[in-house]
Amino acid sequence: MNQRSTRPEPQRLPAAFRDWLCDIAWCQAEEIIDAVPLEGGVSSDIWRFEREGKSYCVKRALGRLKVAAVWEAPISRNASEADWMRFVNRVDPSYAPACLANDAKKGMLLMPYLPHADYPLWKQMLYRGHCSADDARAVGVRLAHIHGQAAKEPELLAAFDNMPVFIAIRLEPYLLATAENHPDLKALLLELAGLAAQGRHSLIHGDVSPKNILLGPDGPVFLDAECACWGDPAFDLAFCLNHLLLKRLWMPAHLELYRSSFSQLVEGYRCAFNQYQAWESWDSLEQRVAKLLPALALARVDGKSPVEYLTSASQKDLVRRLARKALAAATLCLEDINAQWGASGLR
Ligand SMILES: Nc1ncnc2c1ncn2[C@@H]1O[C@H](COP(=O)(O)OP(=O)(O)O)[C@@H](O)[C@H]1O
Ligand SMILES: [Mg+2]
Repeated sequence: MNQRSTRPEPQRLPAAFRDWLCDIAWCQAEEIIDAVPLEGGVSSDIWRFEREGKSYCVKRALGRLKVAAVWEAPISRNASEADWMRFVNRVDPSYAPACLANDAKKGMLLMPYLPHADYPLWKQMLYRGHCSADDARAVGVRLAHIHGQAAKEPELLAAFDNMPVFIAIRLEPYLLATAENHPDLKALLLELAGLAAQGRHSLIHGDVSPKNILLGPDGPVFLDAECACWGDPAFDLAFCLNHLLLKRLWMPAHLELYRSSFSQLVEGYRCAFNQYQAWESWDSLEQRVAKLLPALALARVDGKSPVEYLTSASQKDLVRRLARKALAAATLCLEDINAQWGASGLR
């Protein structure tokens, strides 16, 4: 975990951020603002600062991501994140921080900082085993609520018609890059990427990962919707469930927590999905999620953005074996995959 044990020293908020805050009348020209950089992400510069007793974050999208491979992404994704936050706050203000201001040209946005003591990161809580399957269920419920509500507002498509960006920063680095490393699976992975690109059902977040979810006192809070796009919600669900598979190799001691969290996330999503009378049946959505899930698992070892915590050859081989097995199966439901990733070899 890249959580520091000591509190980082405040620094000066860089001029680009300070100047923008001046433009929007949040500070005086030439004012010096103490700020602390937030760590954990790879695609943004993000700083926390205090103002009149309240904490805020100012976030700027980077043109080149902080990963080993060269990975460039348009900074327009910051405006997508701001639009997504505004929509989700309309659905329920406890689901995401409010967007207080944004500048599409500069690729910057301002939001409240949610204090770590009350809003721990789900990823850290999973790592320590300090959360429960109920938290995962709430993630599923909220995600289905967002998807279900957005599907009823097709006019949102105009603001989130971002499929080319989604292809460039999600499908290419994960599924297409993995296809290049697994020639025998290439046709299947390209087909899955094609399906994900064609699915136009609702507004998706695009990066539903435990490192982008805070567990707040009123339930999970989604951050970092830079990849928001009108697309296939199966991607969001598969993307998040994938983390609950991979973390079993990271912290095998919490296998049961991850397994029950997986089940409850699916269950929470399914119940809410049915309640919000979404655009298709749960069964047809589940089929796409169950195909995408092992493809994304493979992508997190052999794509362009491997998870940082699976480092040994044996861990990677196990992911490859389990992912290939699920990809080869003609019909699998999500619980089958959940059960397979609990078998011997993980402990
Ligand atoms: N509003 C916020 N309140 C509290 N912590 C935040 C907030 N926004 C971001 N963070 C923290 O900063 C990290 C990086 O922010 P994120 O928006 O995910 O940027 P990136 O696009 O670089 O991943 C998050 O994982 C979270 O720990
Ligand atoms: Mg992030």
